[in-house]
Amino acid sequence: MGNFTVRIRKKARYVDPTACNACGECAKVCPQVRPDEYQMGLSARKAIYIPFPQAVPCSYILDMESCLGNVPIACGKCAEACEQNAINYDDRDEIVTREVGAVIVAVGAEVYDPTQDDEYGYTRFRNVITSMEFERLICAGGPTCGEFVRPSDLQRPKRIGFIQCVGSRNPRLNRPWCSNICCMNTVKDTLLLADHYPDTENVVFYQDIRSFGKGFEDMFQRSKEAGTRYIRGLPGEIVEDPATGNLRVTVENTTAGRIERFELDMVVLSVGVEPPKDLARISGLLTLSKTSDGFFMESHPKLKPVDAPTRGVFFAGFCESPKDIKDSVCQAGAAASRAGALLNAGRIRIEAITSHIDPAACTKCGLCAQVCPYGAIRWKKGEVATVVEAACAGCGACGATCRSGAITMRHYTDDQLNAQVRAILGDRPQDKVCVFACNWCSYAGGDMAGISRMAYPASNRVVRTLCSARVSEEMVLEAFRCGAPVVLVSGCHYADCHYITANRQTVKRVDRLWDRLERLGIRPERLQLEWISAAEGPKFAAVMRRLEDLRRTVTAEEIAHTREALRPKPAARIARAAALQE
Ligand code: FES
Repeated sequence: MGNFTVRIRKKARYVDPTACNACGECAKVCPQVRPDEYQMGLSARKAIYIPFPQAVPCSYILDMESCLGNVPIACGKCAEACEQNAINYDDRDEIVTREVGAVIVAVGAEVYDPTQDDEYGYTRFRNVITSMEFERLICAGGPTCGEFVRPSDLQRPKRIGFIQCVGSRNPRLNRPWCSNICCMNTVKDTLLLADHYPDTENVVFYQDIRSFGKGFEDMFQRSKEAGTRYIRGLPGEIVEDPATGNLRVTVENTTAGRIERFELDMVVLSVGVEPPKDLARISGLLTLSKTSDGFFMESHPKLKPVDAPTRGVFFAGFCESPKDIKDSVCQAGAAASRAGALLNAGRIRIEAITSHIDPAACTKCGLCAQVCPYGAIRWKKGEVATVVEAACAGCGACGATCRSGAITMRHYTDDQLNAQVRAILGDRPQDKVCVFACNWCSYAGGDMAGISRMAYPASNRVVRTLCSARVSEEMVLEAFRCGAPVVLVSGCHYADCHYITANRQTVKRVDRLWDRLERLGIRPERLQLEWISAAEGPKFAAVMRRLEDLRRTVTAEEIAHTREALRPKPAARIARAAALQE
């Protein structure tokens, strides 16, 4: 935090923006024609072009992959036409290095591509278009200069259908999330059509219209008053009439409880958004975690909604979750403020919960450096590991992994956690279920069950750790030694750990423990692993009920055998006794 070295690739433009006066003579003579990405491929551009009308700087760039090059016999026409001598074919990408104090990640999102699944005949029917293509067709700066026509015959469509949730809220496509913006985008489009072309008939097929937000419900009502029909139900079939290009849409109107058929001139697919394809690369560069839907995970959904788990990194916009313009602007303002506060602080305070390595006890194995999700442990082969405390987030994965006991956590120490285990199992341990719960999700899930007044057996005793990765093998074994019939290790859902990827270590550790218990003749199912999120109060209660049922199956003989099998070997016993005495 406050100390990042950033290497930035400054892409070659091949046109000097300070010399180019955007006269356009170069594009006139360029022989290379390519689909215009900004116009969704509905019009063409040249190899030398201005990316979009409001581009800053407003100067041409050269698409070198399409350019024929500067060999005069091949081409070089743009350079000949440019009176400003602004074109430089020898321009190269430049790597710029900067020292920065904070990083704001605002990498946006991508739009769902309906060709992947041929949604509603998008690849087969000419008059099925996406909402992005609709935007270009109705825009004054679009390929038709705002003249709204359909692709098949360039005639103005009079009956238009909008299909919502294409690539959103669809578990079959592994896209269960709501894209947030599509409903209001469609409402806006219907109002635009009603304004520009009052004679069009619009019909919207939807699952739910989500018009929350200031003024949105009002807009939705205006759309209905303007004559747009809203049909609750997504089309089951679309068939094209090859002679006219019209589309016959069959849908179950779930409100009216009947099948309806529509003949439409054009269908607009309201496509959702998805995380950018290269999010994993950015995640690796900045050690960020992702939620199960693939967007970046914030440090805390309520208390730190714009902070990344890596300190000094903040989020703005879609990359964190789908959001509209207003929310994106709010989040960008918040991220800028958080970064500004950090840069102006001069000194920073960090949480005291960090790890500490005793150099005398360190065996130089480097395991701790391997499991640290923040790269906060510096280690070289043959050298003692050290902790960069400003980078350590205190998950405890290193402490739980260190075999020589060289790592102690400041707070939530091994001694404190083991003391809790011994205390809760000090009296009638056979009646208790020992639960290790991570602070951010499972413990909060227990809270949720409590405040929701959900009934579950009172046999569980919870030991809170910051992350499930903090629970060492020794802590679990100590619980069994103390007579616990059942032990649960619980944490955030697998991809949702608040310490990036720390709970992957939890899985590996519990796997090892299951093997070990089995080898010792102890039923492995007596150790359970569960992912329970902060919102899953019902799941927490259900797991507790299940564990209580399991506890009742554990006999006194099994507990006695477990204690005997896990009894420390004499040398270890003496060391442990000495440690306890100390
Ligand atoms: Fe919950 Fe890591 S923070 S498992």
